[in-house]
Amino acid sequence: MSDVLCIYYSFSGNTRRAMKEIADAVGAEIVAIDDGADRNGWRGRLRAGKDAMRRSTAPLKPFTTERNIEDYKLVIVGTPVWGGRCSSPIRGLLKRRGLEMSRVAYVLTRSGNRRCVSVYDQMDLYTAEKHLLEVSLQPGSVGYAFWRDKFISDVQQYLESGHVG
Ligand SMILES: Cc1cc2nc3c(=O)[nH]c(=O)nc-3n(C[C@H](O)[C@H](O)[C@H](O)COP(=O)(O)O)c2cc1C
Repeated sequence: MSDVLCIYYSFSGNTRRAMKEIADAVGAEIVAIDDGADRNGWRGRLRAGKDAMRRSTAPLKPFTTERNIEDYKLVIVGTPVWGGRCSSPIRGLLKRRGLEMSRVAYVLTRSGNRRCVSVYDQMDLYTAEKHLLEVSLQPGSVGYAFWRDKFISDVQQYLESGHVG
């Protein structure tokens, strides 16, 4: 049973890949969440963008974790950036379960050059404590592996020492 939970939503696979790489490196349990919404085609993507902008969420499909969420040493939450915000399934997760997360880190994936750091503060509105660690990854970019590996090393350091930095 791992001390670390990687929990994420991914529509087109980028966040899934990043979270799998991170989970493999730190030996974390990995869980995908889904709200069952159909986001295929341009209509689906448009709806995804609108939902993110309006901060609307839908109930999540049931998921299980090996421990209670509050019992992990660290919960790493992964989301794509949608319209400069976190994805609506992850907002739904944080709205419903965020108060169980007091040791939390964030992984964003995005397509643009802007790191979208305001998303971290949006996500912190729902958690019991502000996040400890963060990374914003641009899949396919030159810096992707560097920033992913720096985040992995920050997580490992936190797990060894119990504090950040
Ligand atoms: C509806 C929608 C809105 C998006 N908005 C942004 C954005 O504001 N900024 C950005 O950099 N990328 C944006 N993207 C791109 C995704 O964040 C990026 O491709 C991400 O890595 C996708 O992750 P996934 O493959 O796990 O779904 C958007 C994608 C979608 C579908």
